[in-house]
Amino acid sequence: MIAVAVLGHGVVGSGVVEVLERSRASIGKKAGADLYVKKILDIREFPHLPYAHLFTKSFEEIVSDPEIRVVVEVMGGVTPAFDFVSAALRAGKSVVTSNKELVAAKGAALVALAREHGQNFLFEASVGGGIPIIRPLHQSLAADEIDEIVGILNGTTNFILTKMIRENMGFDAALKMAQELGYAEANPAADVEGIDTCRKICILASLAFGSHVYPDKVPTQGITSVTLEDIQYAEDENCVIKLLGHTRRLNGKCFAVTGPCLVSRESPLAGVDDVFNAILVRGEVTGDVVFYGKGAGKLPTASAVVSDIIDCVTADGPIATLQWSDSDGNNVIDSREDAVPRYLRCRGEGLFAKIGAAFGEVHLLRRPGKPADEEAFTTAPISGYELEEKLAALTAQGVEVLSTMRVWGQQ
Ligand code: HSE
Repeated sequence: MIAVAVLGHGVVGSGVVEVLERSRASIGKKAGADLYVKKILDIREFPHLPYAHLFTKSFEEIVSDPEIRVVVEVMGGVTPAFDFVSAALRAGKSVVTSNKELVAAKGAALVALAREHGQNFLFEASVGGGIPIIRPLHQSLAADEIDEIVGILNGTTNFILTKMIRENMGFDAALKMAQELGYAEANPAADVEGIDTCRKICILASLAFGSHVYPDKVPTQGITSVTLEDIQYAEDENCVIKLLGHTRRLNGKCFAVTGPCLVSRESPLAGVDDVFNAILVRGEVTGDVVFYGKGAGKLPTASAVVSDIIDCVTADGPIATLQWSDSDGNNVIDSREDAVPRYLRCRGEGLFAKIGAAFGEVHLLRRPGKPADEEAFTTAPISGYELEEKLAALTAQGVEVLSTMRVWGQQ
């Protein structure tokens, strides 16, 4: 028998208890031992649950229990999660987490601490919910050099954008539905402002490129300013609007960026709708590999957590391929160095001439009911620096720039 403790009984924590109980026999076979939940840490009371007797408010009770081999941290946030995870690793327990904020902020330190104590710190559920991506990235693709990762990494925002595109549904109503379905963060600002996607692309970039990429190095924009007009113009470009996390090697370093993008309908990411996530990994020798599945929700995420628990109990010491070094930020270059086609929507008088003077040849877009003082267009690939110069030229002539987005996936 192997005892497991769960820190936090929210959506994912209760799902972990449910999955461990529901599939106890088959999980036991794969793990080579019966796995059971011995303690659950939560400050709330759950007297109605059949396993109410497992709850404790004392972390000390868990960390000092020699029978507990694996601690599952599903509380969210960095404090006190970081202290609890560090203490559990120092006490010789492996730790599994779904907490992307923690991994994005402290991943390098916690992976190193786990190795120092002969344990594992695993976080498959922190990116892509139920989609296997962390393990494939460091194990299955271990022989390859990763050049680029582009992903739809947040289920809540993809659900909202899908409702806006397909059903013309308002932003607030779609967000409320996503919250009711258990997809959103406790504070959904992290979803809609792109912060959750930023944390996830940081984790993937750190793992793929070997040095920690911290969130403060990643320009981040959410979907709150995406309008139905942008969606209609994107349609005219044969694109859909998706919130992407993007990281790529460039000039011997890497950059990462998060924001809404026009995604070509010809790209494998364009058809990824609702709560589904997809991650395209471009390897130097493997080429493109795409991972697709449910990116949020109680049981898909819990399933990823439980698979990590099985890895912890079957591993013979720290998993060699799972590691990266800490960094001082010099590993990351400014994403403005990346030259990509850009989408712009502007308002003003005499737009056609002003746009031509600033950008040269552009591809003008149409939408039903387009007012005479509005234009939207896509450009040839330009860097973020060039874009800033051209935007300054436009605004100096009295043009109001309503929207700018990167365009991804066009040939
Ligand atoms: N709020 C997150 C999402 C949960 O919507 O994707 C999964 O990380």
